[in-house]
Amino acid sequence: MNEIKIFSPATVANVACGFDVLGFCLDSVGDEMVVRKTNKKGIHITKIEGFNLPYETELNVAGVSALAMYKTLDVDFGFEIEIYKNIKPGSGIGSSAASAVGSVYGMNELLGKPFNKTQLTEFAIKGEALASKCEHADNLAPALFGGFTLVKSVSPLQILEIPSPDDLYATIIHPQIEIKTSESRAVLPKEVALSDAIEQWANLGSLVHALHTSDYNLISNSLKDVIVEPHRSQLIPQFNEVKKAVIEAGALGAGISGSGPSIFSLSKGLETAKKVKDAMQSVYLKTVIEFDIHVSKINIDGVKII
Ligand code: HSE
Repeated sequence: MNEIKIFSPATVANVACGFDVLGFCLDSVGDEMVVRKTNKKGIHITKIEGFNLPYETELNVAGVSALAMYKTLDVDFGFEIEIYKNIKPGSGIGSSAASAVGSVYGMNELLGKPFNKTQLTEFAIKGEALASKCEHADNLAPALFGGFTLVKSVSPLQILEIPSPDDLYATIIHPQIEIKTSESRAVLPKEVALSDAIEQWANLGSLVHALHTSDYNLISNSLKDVIVEPHRSQLIPQFNEVKKAVIEAGALGAGISGSGPSIFSLSKGLETAKKVKDAMQSVYLKTVIEFDIHVSKINIDGVKII
């Protein structure tokens, strides 16, 4: 096999109380990429459609993660990468992670899978860091492994796979404004109050327990972020209105998707997730801001060959 086409999914990082450690994978939106072996050594980005991104390998997220893997190989050929970008950069649903994951997953498949998913995440972290200016894996891990993942530690990298309750659906609104992850990180405090930390880790622990036990009420009670949301929500138009509307529509909870501006909510059942979509829409239709909304089952497969 010399060429492969893949789907690299969007993801929701943080999931309210799990800043930088928790994430889940979406199935309704993602990038497509073609990776092929070529006689010319090195990594070459040969096509980009969808958004205006750099072709220079060292400046492109997919290129940087691919290079991180390529440097460990002893091969007399190279790789070409075509990127069909559907996830808008700066959307808060793991655009850079999808790029970073897609290239290394495709290369690994063409090489006969010498690397496991944790090793692929190690390479992809280098690409993600180009975009967000720090090394974190809470979008990368769910894109590679699928489902919910918890990044127990980045160094050494340790990723835990967490079960997804069967009837859990996500609804995500993406207002068409850009918030750069690096800027969204800059508004965060360097220190937090112990009382907030206690509440946050209690919620994260109980959310993980609720996912293991399919306890939808406990998921609902745990989807709270007392540390990051109060700061970042000010960057997102109508955030509080959306949150109120989706809870009234029956959602289990809501929060900022990754570093924003997207807002995610989780619901039990597709019908409720669709009602939540209508509720989100009704808030944003009153503004002049354009938006997309995605309703998605939790994608338990992650990145895949198409
Ligand atoms: N955990 C990251 C953040 C995800 O919220 O900054 C975005 O890359």
